[in-house]
Amino acid sequence: MKVSVSVLSEYDRLIAAVKKVNESTADFIHVDVMDGKFVDNEKFSVEVVKDIISISKKPLDVHLMVKDLETIKKYALLKPEYLTFHVEVLNDRGIIDYVKKLGIKVGLAINPETSINELYPYIDDVDLILFMSVKPGYGGQPFKEEVIDKIKSFKKMAPSDLVISVDGGINDKTISLCKYAGCDMVVAGSFITNSDNYDEKIRELR
Ligand code: DX5
Ligand code: ZN
Repeated sequence: MKVSVSVLSEYDRLIAAVKKVNESTADFIHVDVMDGKFVDNEKFSVEVVKDIISISKKPLDVHLMVKDLETIKKYALLKPEYLTFHVEVLNDRGIIDYVKKLGIKVGLAINPETSINELYPYIDDVDLILFMSVKPGYGGQPFKEEVIDKIKSFKKMAPSDLVISVDGGINDKTISLCKYAGCDMVVAGSFITNSDNYDEKIRELR
């Protein structure tokens, strides 16, 4: 199981958190960009993400909770490993092609209440699907178990090399549901960052 560590809940102690992720066995550092429109919260400007890049030793997994396609283009210029944006803001595959041409892996995120039918037009064009298991916007919320059936249905139709990731409310209990659903990767925030020992927590999720 790949583990991507979200530093959202550590926004006020960001540099210390990024250094702790550096020293851990995390596969990725997950950065939650919020525009105050797609979600109420507003976090991680381009400048702050540049600061993270300057100290991070882990590949960046950027999750854009943003409404405007122009904002997606701005963050694409930072060349993260994965750039994930929401299927709810897409009208066509134009932005997917734009990001792929920059050599960046593309992820599509889907909110808990959105139907998996919205994903099908794009599944051959993207590298990762990020199933939200909480309402996006804040860390520390409880895992919505309904997402598990959704992932299982989706996997029946999905290409086998498409990475399936889950984001929100991941801990030592909910991880077993994610494994049962056949996920490849989890995004975990507070479960890891509330601990002094990131690696001990990451090990519990592997
Ligand atoms: C929520 C974010 C998540 C969040 C996860 O909108 O997309 O990445 O930081 O935090 P936890 O693991 O605390 O639910
Ligand atoms: Zn996220």
